[in-house]
Amino acid sequence: MFCERVKNIDISGIRKMFEGAGPNAINLGLGQPDFDTPEHIKKAAIDAINNGFTAYTVNLGIPELREALCRKFERENHFTVMPDEVMITSGASEALHLALVALIDRGDDVLIPDPGFVSYSALTRMAGGRAVGVPLGEGLTVRPEEVNESITPRTKVLIINSPSNPTGTVQREHEIKALAEIAEDNGITIISDEVYEHFIYEGEHISPAQFTDNVITINGVSKTYAMTGWRIGYAAARKEYIEQMLKVHQYIQACANSIAQKAAQAAIEGPQDCVSEMRASFRARRDVLLEGLCAMGIKCIRPEGAFYAFPEIEDEDAPQRLIENGIIVVPGTAFGENGKGHIRISYSTSIENIRRALGIMEKVLC
Ligand SMILES: Cc1ncc(COP(=O)(O)O)c(C=O)c1O
Repeated sequence: MFCERVKNIDISGIRKMFEGAGPNAINLGLGQPDFDTPEHIKKAAIDAINNGFTAYTVNLGIPELREALCRKFERENHFTVMPDEVMITSGASEALHLALVALIDRGDDVLIPDPGFVSYSALTRMAGGRAVGVPLGEGLTVRPEEVNESITPRTKVLIINSPSNPTGTVQREHEIKALAEIAEDNGITIISDEVYEHFIYEGEHISPAQFTDNVITINGVSKTYAMTGWRIGYAAARKEYIEQMLKVHQYIQACANSIAQKAAQAAIEGPQDCVSEMRASFRARRDVLLEGLCAMGIKCIRPEGAFYAFPEIEDEDAPQRLIENGIIVVPGTAFGENGKGHIRISYSTSIENIRRALGIMEKVLC
């Protein structure tokens, strides 16, 4: 009764791990900040409700927010877009879906990092495309040479995600530049998922839109402002991209939540010390986790961003045994074939939990 396109999609390997866990497990599987949304952002939403800002907004999203985002892109990401080249979506997730649906014909190839964020492959297949994994290099980043080798006449899109979920690695400027050149030389579009841009501890965030127009930049407020439940994301691209994406958005969503758009505007335009505080806290947690893993002799590329570590753990039963002992982690294979031999640890939890989890890991894994 159900179509192959959907039947063939598995539920996310991350959700599966949660299902097997006890109620008191230490959750190192979460993909969201463990902080509350800052007060000034909540207040903007409450004001929006009290002021009756409760109707549909224009499909693209409220102009004040899109204008604020144009200034943000100029200031932080060093590229210029006009307000009609920015659209507000229900999370970065919807923006990823719209971009792929707008670009992919049946049988087109989408190059995705392997290991990479779980949605890329599923959304590609739902759009009728073929997800082609690009194996990461030694430092767990996407290597331009590897992308070049994977390109065929069917390649339409390359997805990049720096800082990366699940590896926490950050692409260097020369790599982003080279990937932008590859996109231009081959007439393909980069979808650049930048949701972790503000959580970088070493290195620097570089948007490919600085170097090419063949790019849809996707971001959101979920991670930066601890707003995962508010469901606001955004996409910026040349007008011709936005026009096609808007057609789909208009029918499946009409507009993003009006109240949450006001909250997102307060987040983007308001004080940013909440972001620096979260960044400092994540960095301290990362250092405790890495030190602990290193002391156990577990190899782990130093994650420079996001809030994930991707250590090498050869034992395939390790995630299951950790769960049985009260720690939720995600097996590397949930993120693609090349995630084999790794687990993803999210350090979006207290230092106390990280220390307790390290103690248990030592008993279970060493
Ligand atoms: C790399 C990446 N992109 C996109 C998303 C989705 O974010 P949003 O909450 O804005 O839909 C996530 C969430 O985990 C993510 O890790």
